[in-house]
Amino acid sequence: MEQNGYDYHYQYHEPEVIKEAIYKGGEALKKAPEVVGVPTGVEGLDELFFTVKEIDGRLQKVNLGGIPKYSVCNLTGVNDTGKSLMAEQFAIAQAQKGQKVAFITVETPANFVAASLKYRALAMGYRFEEFEDNIILIDAASNYKLREYIPDLLATLAYAIKTYKIDYTVIDSVTGLFENKEAMARSIVRRLFNFMKKWYQTAWFISQKRSGHEMLSAEAAGGYAVGHIVDGTMVLAKELITSAYAARLYNAQIGDLVRFFRIDGCRMCGHDTKTHFMEITETGIVKILEPIGGKR
Ligand SMILES: Nc1ncnc2c1ncn2[C@@H]1O[C@H](COP(=O)(O)OP(=O)(O)OP(=O)(O)O)[C@@H](O)[C@H]1O
Ligand SMILES: [Mg+2]
Repeated sequence: MEQNGYDYHYQYHEPEVIKEAIYKGGEALKKAPEVVGVPTGVEGLDELFFTVKEIDGRLQKVNLGGIPKYSVCNLTGVNDTGKSLMAEQFAIAQAQKGQKVAFITVETPANFVAASLKYRALAMGYRFEEFEDNIILIDAASNYKLREYIPDLLATLAYAIKTYKIDYTVIDSVTGLFENKEAMARSIVRRLFNFMKKWYQTAWFISQKRSGHEMLSAEAAGGYAVGHIVDGTMVLAKELITSAYAARLYNAQIGDLVRFFRIDGCRMCGHDTKTHFMEITETGIVKILEPIGGKR
């Protein structure tokens, strides 16, 4: 049986040389996946990631056309900023292309999420029936064992990945997995992250921010745990316009709700660093718009 990190740490044993953890640069490079983009299904987002490629002996910036494949991204924001909508769009976009997606729902029971996914597909111009079984829902909202005991969740997910040949995973939300044990946030997120890497998943982890946190910072509930561990963070925010100054600044009117989006970091590729306006349409579709301050 694979040893759990905690047991290993706390059991005394003679120091051991772990040879399989040592790689020469060339060996490690052979195992490195090429950086390719995965279109997200979110208008305006895919253009914000780029990589540099060696072309004729020179490094040139090349648009990735999506988030880097095999990356684990954290989507953070306070309540009602569009995290779930965006994650659903991502899941639909993959499923519609024939890819298999694990959707671990921690907040909302699976049947409600399925109904929401169906609407999301319709709003995106697709017929959900044509690919509905490409999304495998794992209902941790209704099952406390999955929510409270990470090894059960990971064993269930590993089983689903093997059975359905899943390449994409969404967890909405990881915060729900460390509710009332925030001190564990870092270790829980680390285990989830390592699992995604081991199984070559391209994954979105949703994490909630407390409203006390600075609006556009990447700090999520449980402190900075999530942001440091994952490959990249996308921050969603909203602001109610209450002053003439803000109204002028954002070209809005007093009483409007203005939404923002920012990529806080991505280890696997280059990315746009500006804060963008964001829109949620009447049918619940998230779109990333121009940077605040306009295009420069
Ligand atoms: N057709 C729609 N379906 C769902 N949400 C819509 C729709 N149209 C607009 N919205 C807006 O999107 C918001 C919901 O966003 P979403 O559920 O993705 O939030 P969230 O960031 O996941 O919040 P939480 O942290 O509470 O889960 C609603 O508050 C609403 O303002
Ligand atoms: Mg949500």
